[in-house]
Amino acid sequence: MPCTVICGAFWGDEGKGKIISYLALKDKLDFCVRTGSVNAAHTIWYKGKRYALHMVPGGFVYEKCRLLIGAGSNVDVKQFLQEVEETNVRNRIGVDSQASIIEEKHSEQDKASAHLKCIGTTGRGVGPAIEERVRRTAKLAKDIPELKPYLADVANEVNTAINKGKNVLLEGTQGLMLSLFHGTYPYVTGRDTSASAICSEAGVGPTKIDNVMIVFKSFITRVGAGPLPGELTKEEAQKRGWFETAAGTGRDRRSAQFNFEIAKKAAIINGATQAALTKLDAVYPECKGARTFDELPKEAKQFIAEIEKQTGVPVALIGTGPEALDIIDRRK
Ligand code: IMP
Ligand code: MG
Repeated sequence: MPCTVICGAFWGDEGKGKIISYLALKDKLDFCVRTGSVNAAHTIWYKGKRYALHMVPGGFVYEKCRLLIGAGSNVDVKQFLQEVEETNVRNRIGVDSQASIIEEKHSEQDKASAHLKCIGTTGRGVGPAIEERVRRTAKLAKDIPELKPYLADVANEVNTAINKGKNVLLEGTQGLMLSLFHGTYPYVTGRDTSASAICSEAGVGPTKIDNVMIVFKSFITRVGAGPLPGELTKEEAQKRGWFETAAGTGRDRRSAQFNFEIAKKAAIINGATQAALTKLDAVYPECKGARTFDELPKEAKQFIAEIEKQTGVPVALIGTGPEALDIIDRRK
């Protein structure tokens, strides 16, 4: 894989955490670099335990993987230290000295803003923290004594690793439809979430990327306000088994059927070379736990073929259950 970017296609919560944890274990990832901030929760099930990580990269499940948080990220120090303990990664995690810091005041500003309330933000303070960074008054990781043991030059480490042919994964957050530039503005997050932006936040140039893996969920969900084409009622979503609550905030997720138009747009703007399709078992329950393509029912195979036809991107990984290894891997 040498350098792969993982990005979301929809409004986040596509199951990026699960795909990243699988790749970490299967491909023995050397480096996993997280971008973005605490508004995102990446859910990982590993050895029967559930993790909802806002800061620690999803590659933590592979014990030899070096974990990094890029210069473009916003770090919530308390959340970071707590997750470092939870995942026991003290000796192999680094934070770029230039990552900026989210403070309690940013969360208060987020929650106190009537405008941000209308957008339905997570309330974690990410928008106000980015505003402060743009004003050039933000604190950086290098200003925080508790972060001293973790400070790193992420761009340097990662580019050196790529040049040595190590396996590197850049972990994006949210999805293209929440991008500040390409999403459903103003109902978006405070930054670009496309593959290019993920590279930029990590400090990796576009010529260094071998693979852009876009993550599609087999149905669509969105939390917060803003348009959702083909939105189902909560009752209908429950009936179909598609009703979810947010891993980070516990809010109800709204849901809709898979949308090929959006999938196509996201594949183009991210420059996707491969796709991962998650939660196929939520749409076709017979798929649960399948580990080979041949086990899938005809309708599921047709659905996958249609995604490939309309987006032009091969569906390389297929998620059939919550555990990291519940995957059909068609890469070779
Ligand atoms: P903010 O990113 O907290 O400012 O929230 C802006 C919008 O992005 C809201 O609709 C949030 O629900 C949504 N959002 C932010 N992060 C995530 C995520 O990780 N998953 C899903 N939605 C998110
Ligand atoms: Mg999430």
